[in-house]
Amino acid sequence: MAKFDLQSAAFHRNPYPTLARLLAEGPVVEWKLPLIGKIHWATSFEAASDFLKGAERFAADGRNAGKGNALGIRWIPGPLRVLTKNMLLMDEPDHRRLRKLVDAPFRKGWIDAYRPTIAGIADRLLDEIEVRGEHDIVSGFARALPLEVICEMLGLQGDRREFMEWMTGFSGRMNAWTLIRIIPTIGRLTAYLRKEIDRARVDQQPCLLTEIVNAEADGERMTDDEMMAMLILLFVAGHETTTHLLSTGIHALLTHRDQLDLFKADGSRAPQAVEEILRYCSPVQATKPRMARHDMEFHGTRLKRGDKVMAMLASANVDPAAFDDPLRFDILRDGKNRHVGFGGGLHLCLGMHLARAEAQIALERLFTRWPGVRIAVPDAELKWQARLGMHGLASLPLVWS
Ligand code: HEM
Repeated sequence: MAKFDLQSAAFHRNPYPTLARLLAEGPVVEWKLPLIGKIHWATSFEAASDFLKGAERFAADGRNAGKGNALGIRWIPGPLRVLTKNMLLMDEPDHRRLRKLVDAPFRKGWIDAYRPTIAGIADRLLDEIEVRGEHDIVSGFARALPLEVICEMLGLQGDRREFMEWMTGFSGRMNAWTLIRIIPTIGRLTAYLRKEIDRARVDQQPCLLTEIVNAEADGERMTDDEMMAMLILLFVAGHETTTHLLSTGIHALLTHRDQLDLFKADGSRAPQAVEEILRYCSPVQATKPRMARHDMEFHGTRLKRGDKVMAMLASANVDPAAFDDPLRFDILRDGKNRHVGFGGGLHLCLGMHLARAEAQIALERLFTRWPGVRIAVPDAELKWQARLGMHGLASLPLVWS
């Protein structure tokens, strides 16, 4: 079984040699992960895309592949069970039922109408740090923006600082110990969200939470547990991911001055630049595991029913068979930038238009406000997160004058 280090800070500092080794190893590579066990990784663009579109062959819910629970692991601690009722761990028809109930507010048209609100939040956060002349963008702006935006969209009335602390608990390296450590946080978060759900049912303020509690499609509604799992999924899937789209994006631009100059020369390049950041940096490096529904041959590898498979989005996004000169960071890469940074198929990221809008606005605002902004320490001193599947900086100190 091949061995690859995908968790260390050293890997995240420069993932490209390891991603190239993965691609060279073959379209499906097998190795073991702590907690999850043996995994087959779809590494090439072709195998990853095929896997993403293959819901009839790969089940998100382990019970549809002969396992005892949704995650396909031996035991799930009681307080974490509510989290498994989220749509990322569901197959059809349950997945479709839940996705339909929240789809509308995340469509492009709705998110475009929300852009002025996002810009207002970004400007306020930048105003707050402007006078300091230096700032760790990861623990500050890049963490606060997605959280403030989703709290605002949902219409939550809680203390945002408390939220920030809870969400920070979900970041960092995940192992058995951190999983146990976040149980009390999940307890506090669910207690808080239950109160907010009850409030929204009564006061019916116009916001996403009210849409969710009232949501009904084809006579179907969400159960209370599904609603809770949905809200937590929106926070967890939408927070750390966007923080690191920003942390890696700002880093990539500041370390490729020619690309930064192109970006600054024309604000309308922000959408193209964000797509290239999603491809080149892949803030979400891998999907969640799915399980083979039956014995099969998959890109030259024999799989048995219940075998776990994941798509390695980060290697697929730098596969030379799919992208010209894939290790060149090129914000003007043309319309052929069909990266898989948001996954694909049934579980294609629900929040992609929101994440895109936040990143486009944040980058445009930051580099317009501080054209001379730079990283405060030499690149070798920057700290990268050591986390499987999530690529980002642990801190990114910036200075401007
Ligand atoms: C840079 C930002 C983001 C990236 C790179 C990203 C990436 C992804 C990926 C790769 C998946 C598929 C996972 C899989 O197949 O196992 C996914 C699913 C999902 N994402 Fe995102 N995401 C981002 C932001 C967001 C935001 C802002 C939200 C919402 C507030 C969100 C909500 C979701 C949800 C609900 C799913 C599950 C969809 C389903 O099962 O149908 N994401 N995301």
